[in-house]
Amino acid sequence: MADNKKPFYITTPIYYVNAAPHLGTAYCTILCDVQARFRRAMGQDVKFLTGLDEHGEKVQRAAEDHGKTPQEWCDSLAPAFHDIWNTLEISNDDFIRTTQPRQIRAVQHLWDRMKDAGYIYKDSYDGWYCVHEETYYTETQVSKSDEDHGVVGRHLCPECQRELQRVKEESWFFKLSAFQDRLLKLYDEHPDFVMPAFRMNEVRSFVESGLRDISVSRTSFDWGIPVPFDDKHVTYVWFDALLNYATAVGFGDPDMADEYARRWPAQYHVVGKDIIRFHCVIWPAMLMAIGEALPEHVFAHGFLMVRNEETGQGEKMSKSRGNAIAPQDVIDMLGVEGYRYYFMTDCVPGEDGAISYSRMTQVYNADLANSWGNLVSRSLNMSAKYFDGKTPELPEGWADRANPLKDIADGLVDRYVAAMSVFDYVSAKNAVLELVHAANHYIEDSAPWAVAKDPARADELEQIITNLLEAIRISAHLFAPFMPQTSAEVLRRMSLADEADTTDLIAACQWGGLASGAAVTKGDALFPRLDVKKG
Ligand code: MSP
Repeated sequence: MADNKKPFYITTPIYYVNAAPHLGTAYCTILCDVQARFRRAMGQDVKFLTGLDEHGEKVQRAAEDHGKTPQEWCDSLAPAFHDIWNTLEISNDDFIRTTQPRQIRAVQHLWDRMKDAGYIYKDSYDGWYCVHEETYYTETQVSKSDEDHGVVGRHLCPECQRELQRVKEESWFFKLSAFQDRLLKLYDEHPDFVMPAFRMNEVRSFVESGLRDISVSRTSFDWGIPVPFDDKHVTYVWFDALLNYATAVGFGDPDMADEYARRWPAQYHVVGKDIIRFHCVIWPAMLMAIGEALPEHVFAHGFLMVRNEETGQGEKMSKSRGNAIAPQDVIDMLGVEGYRYYFMTDCVPGEDGAISYSRMTQVYNADLANSWGNLVSRSLNMSAKYFDGKTPELPEGWADRANPLKDIADGLVDRYVAAMSVFDYVSAKNAVLELVHAANHYIEDSAPWAVAKDPARADELEQIITNLLEAIRISAHLFAPFMPQTSAEVLRRMSLADEADTTDLIAACQWGGLASGAAVTKGDALFPRLDVKKG
């Protein structure tokens, strides 16, 4: 049977294997996971890729320091990533490691294609290199940064301020300079190639200021993919890493030609703002050089900063400042679902986010414990209590009766879908909360406990409880990309477990889908209130 579902391919950056997963990498991965879950619920045929960047001088050095081969070193570190992504309910469909045979084959294919296309040449490189950033810097960049930082007598990395290495070696170069006009044309014709829009200005002015050819092979160490036609050289780690996105859908693999034709180009590469030049300049130029299609969008997220409670300002997280927060600490406090909800809905995805334990407690208690959790618990309790452990039995046509919750729910889904589609998770969450808050108010206004005392008002009671349960059912669907387990549990408590994996979110969110007279489970509190003192 032909598969007509629209493909949706989304990727995280591949993380350096030798840094333990942290809040920043988890943030980016959850950002993609929420989008992948949302698109699956919209019926799209999703491929969600994440993985590890395992080559380069930094890994080779760390392995030597630990008395291991680079491969042993990578293999010992990879499980930590699998573990944390499992814990955080990351639903990736594939996990790429750049040491896998598929990547080695693809990178060597890239070299051959580059050579055939005439976009690489051999020369010698003489300049600065930061092993920690795995990045080359020009003389001008370094002297400007040294001057800005008051560094005298030595040269430090403009990015991380570590000592730079002087690299003088034979190298293959990629003719990046040949792509300036084509890149500018790309940005003009596809203004949403870089998202959010304000990031595009940064990329454009970088390209307008002139592009230099870049060194893409190294000879002074060997932990990299060999250049197929020049075995003294290994591939520069970024030239290798960027290709992972294409490798995973079959680039250069004749057996995967159909998959490649269907999946490439990717709809979204989600990356942090620090690596947009690689993704918005070098990567499209590489693809242009070999005549492959370009990704549709690069979405750049901001950095998570820790809010200094005294100044209210965000500060860079670091061990030396003593303000680094480990993912596990947040999981212990908020639970996995609270963790996902907090980072996804309280930090605007394109901007830097100021995070703090007190803010986490506040958001968790207000939105999850007091609003969403409380609504579910009160409504299911009342349904079970007044209707013999069930949802009310309602006559045909109940769903057409006007009521305030139906009005809100009807206007909500389109707004939610529009916001989710462009990573505006804050607006999407606000839309769902409108319904949740309205439902909590509706409980107060309609006072079901008073109505229940009067047998003459039995119809009214049925309608009130049904409206509440229906608002909950719809909210559960809309919250599902953020909190998949909670939503599945809420639906299960209303005998609607089958709905949890919907691939037609819009239909699922039509008012009127509640199962009438179905068993209701009250269950434990979904989000027990947090003690504010802990914050
Ligand atoms: N290996 C490269 C990516 C290659 S992709 C072809 C790399 N890896 S990384 O492990 O250093 O970083 C991965 C991502 O983590 C980057 O997108 C970076 O922006 C993100 N973050 C690192 N610290 C962060 C925060 N404090 N907050 C949010 N994200 C941050 O770069």
